[in-house]
Amino acid sequence: MTTMQPHGGALINRIAEPERRQALLESAGNLPAIPINTWAISDLDLIGVGAFSPLQGFMSKKDYRAVLDTMRLADGTVWSIPVTLAVPDATAVTLSAGEQAALIGEEDGVIYAILTVEDVYSVDQREEALKVFKTEDPEHPGVKKLFERPNVYVGGSVEILNRPQPARFQEFYFDPAQTRALFEERGWKTVVGFQTRNPVHRAHEYIQKSAMEIVDALFLNPLVGETKSDDVPADVRMRSYLALLEHYYPQDRTFLGVFPAAMRYAGPREAIFHAMVRKNYGCTHFIVGRDHAGVGDYYGTYEAQEIFRHFSAEELGITPLFFEHSFFCIQCGNMASSKTCPHDKEQHLTLSGTKVRGLLREGKCPPPEFTRPEVAAILIEGMKEQVSV
Ligand code: ADX
Repeated sequence: MTTMQPHGGALINRIAEPERRQALLESAGNLPAIPINTWAISDLDLIGVGAFSPLQGFMSKKDYRAVLDTMRLADGTVWSIPVTLAVPDATAVTLSAGEQAALIGEEDGVIYAILTVEDVYSVDQREEALKVFKTEDPEHPGVKKLFERPNVYVGGSVEILNRPQPARFQEFYFDPAQTRALFEERGWKTVVGFQTRNPVHRAHEYIQKSAMEIVDALFLNPLVGETKSDDVPADVRMRSYLALLEHYYPQDRTFLGVFPAAMRYAGPREAIFHAMVRKNYGCTHFIVGRDHAGVGDYYGTYEAQEIFRHFSAEELGITPLFFEHSFFCIQCGNMASSKTCPHDKEQHLTLSGTKVRGLLREGKCPPPEFTRPEVAAILIEGMKEQVSV
């Protein structure tokens, strides 16, 4: 079995049992209501099922401060990204410590959870941006999102009453308890997790398969929560992953399940966060390649690898596998990186995201050394769908 301890020692479960749920639902109407958007709903659900273990709710001020300043929770557990609930001023004044509040979907009116208020605190978003994203540039997609939120947060533990229902690809949603059980059933002792918000190109495939040479299995765990608008939509990506797995991966050593979180684009800090979450899903190893969770030029190519040095192997509890920038080398005739290829840059096939998108938009496949033709066909189809929307 995967003997992986969840982060913090125990897998959190904040889903209310049926009786408790019923009682809470009945009292919810009398509680102050906190409107929550898609992002908050996804954070909430991931807390509820233990993907964010050891978090039991949205961060209180002391955990928030500790995360910003030390990349740890107040009790010292490694945690690099604030998971907070922002509330408008008008709502904040209705909340008091020790009391409950109902978390209600702002679009659908669903009562998703009850929060027991620990504290209500205001924050300096500029400081948060600089510490988490290393920039306060509002062009940065994570910073932009942060600055759009109110600067008052409410901390406290949650009890989930209703869970968000995915519109598509339901069969690829697994809670950490389920992936853990599935990995164990399959007899996998070592599983490498792979985070992606992109289609899987040959470079991704290369680093995944290099990792697969030394572990029992791959958990392909694409992030399907909110991403920036020019990223490939999750539906299209899911179709492309399925095609890729069908044609190029061993079925008995590969497992596809989505990670329904929002993308922060926080580079190094997000890499730590991504690793901790995959540990909760039962992975023993986690891939960190070039500019993991980066965007634009905000982070150095290997900064998301270097940040792991701040923590001991023991406190991380999952082994990061670092990979250099990978490419197809024409001279070698295969995928490689600067660690394995002696040839000049001119021999290396590298295509920018812009160039690839341009080709796909024109209905042209990128070279097979860059993207598998089965994947390219789906991306081209996806581009057409986007245009016709
Ligand atoms: S991310 O924002 O989810 O990190 P992406 O889906 O592109 O973006 O990357 C998924 C993983 O593959 C990350 O660990 C990233 O560092 C790695 N990666 C992406 N492209 C390359 C490449 N050409 N060489 C090495 N690693 C890469």
